[in-house]
Amino acid sequence: MDANEFGVVILAAGKGTRLKSKRPKVLHEIGGRAMLLHVIAAAKTVSDEIVCVIGHEAEKVEAAIAPYDVSWTLQEQQLGTGHALQQVKRHYEAFGEGFGTKAPKHLMVLSGDVPLIQPETLRRLMAFHLEQQAAMTILTAVPENPFGYGRVMRAEPGSAAVRAIVEQKDLKAGEESKEINSGIYCFETEALFANLDRLKNENKSGEYYLTDMAALLVAEGKRVVAVEGDSVDEVLGANTIAEMMHLDAAMRMAAAKRLMGQGVTIFRPETCVIDAQVEVGADTVIEPFVQLLGATRVGPECRIRSYSVVQDSVLGAAVLVRNGCILQAATVGDGALLGPYAHLRPGSEIGEGAHLGNFVETKKVKMGKGSKANHLSYLGDAVIGEGVNVGAGAITCNYDGVHKHQTTIGDGVFVGSDSTLVAPLTVGDGAYIAAGSCITDDVPADALALGRSRQVTKPGWVSKKRGIRE
Ligand code: UD1
Ligand code: CA
Repeated sequence: MDANEFGVVILAAGKGTRLKSKRPKVLHEIGGRAMLLHVIAAAKTVSDEIVCVIGHEAEKVEAAIAPYDVSWTLQEQQLGTGHALQQVKRHYEAFGEGFGTKAPKHLMVLSGDVPLIQPETLRRLMAFHLEQQAAMTILTAVPENPFGYGRVMRAEPGSAAVRAIVEQKDLKAGEESKEINSGIYCFETEALFANLDRLKNENKSGEYYLTDMAALLVAEGKRVVAVEGDSVDEVLGANTIAEMMHLDAAMRMAAAKRLMGQGVTIFRPETCVIDAQVEVGADTVIEPFVQLLGATRVGPECRIRSYSVVQDSVLGAAVLVRNGCILQAATVGDGALLGPYAHLRPGSEIGEGAHLGNFVETKKVKMGKGSKANHLSYLGDAVIGEGVNVGAGAITCNYDGVHKHQTTIGDGVFVGSDSTLVAPLTVGDGAYIAAGSCITDDVPADALALGRSRQVTKPGWVSKKRGIRE
């Protein structure tokens, strides 16, 4: 197969009425990523020439695909999948000299709402299309319940040749084919483009169906064939939220299985939410009800306890994340210990062997090797050295109501419990902050700073007070 002998068209203009959502269907996420982006990723493995047909909420869809170096064409009114292909023809004709010059010899059509499709299946479809010298090749499946899908009518049982595709709504009694149209096809571009204007919208939906192209081409004496894919799941469409969640579960289970194949232990994987792109090192243990999301990478020999949610974060080796932690865009060094209930917000860089314990919140914090904040702290906009001990309830006051300010804490500092460190502030290496202090001035290295009033004790005060009352 020559490179780019095939171009790819991805249909992504539909509104997705059945989702009952404001967001365009193809931007709904499964496995942590918009459905359309999964389809683009699969398409990229077989061709560089990719055109998305966009329409409903086109600006949003355009913005979502912008980083992926694909072209798009606008289908202003969504009059059906056949009408969508008419826009593709127009797109190629806009190059000036008709489709013959710029359009690839063959077009593979994918659907933005059939997101589990695998590169291997696309390659098989393309090879079959060429081998059969077909004008149209349809990828099919035989699911348990074919309801809702277009049905492929073979010319004769067992033959590759197809007579027609009939949509669910237009099925007549006796047309009980269980073989469904996946909505994924290969076309010989010239045959397709020559017949697009002949599609009619005389059907139950009043739409121009691309599926009618099968019967049209057959009537022209062209070869239309179908090939059944290896897996039904791969070609399932997502037209409702329930169907989407079914695909989401399938994709996340595939991610969990892939990780288990790489030596990761996942207890009760059906309770975990693991995005398709997440990487985890061998001998890491993931407990039930954990979520690993986005671009998260977890090192080897870690343990992630139940109810933790880790998003776009990087964890080193042998990190222990106790129950109920939330990590977002954080990095955590080897052997660190988090939680229970620690909240690491964006920009938290936690050093090797550091501890962040119960109800500790961090944001834009660099915490050095072996430093500890074990209980009830807020640490924001701070650089904390190595071997620092932050006592229970100590906080950085980083916000003055208008601006954020920085706190710098040197190596080996001891911050007494319940201290408030009012930024901007620098505490030198080895300094001691007395418990309960409000520290507003810099503390030099090796100094003790006390920022609280002295205790006053009045002996016998209580019984005297009672005496007055009686
Ligand atoms: C379509 C097929 C059906 C097949 C099923 C597989 C048609 C007429 N029917 O049905 O045979 O079994 O897919 O999943 O093609 N779109 C546009 N512009 C439009 C209309 C749709 O770009 O004007 C896009 C949608 O965004 C979607 C794709 O085309 O990504 C399929 O459209 P959809 O309305 O979901 O078709 P189905 O009813 O699922
Ligand atoms: Ca669909």
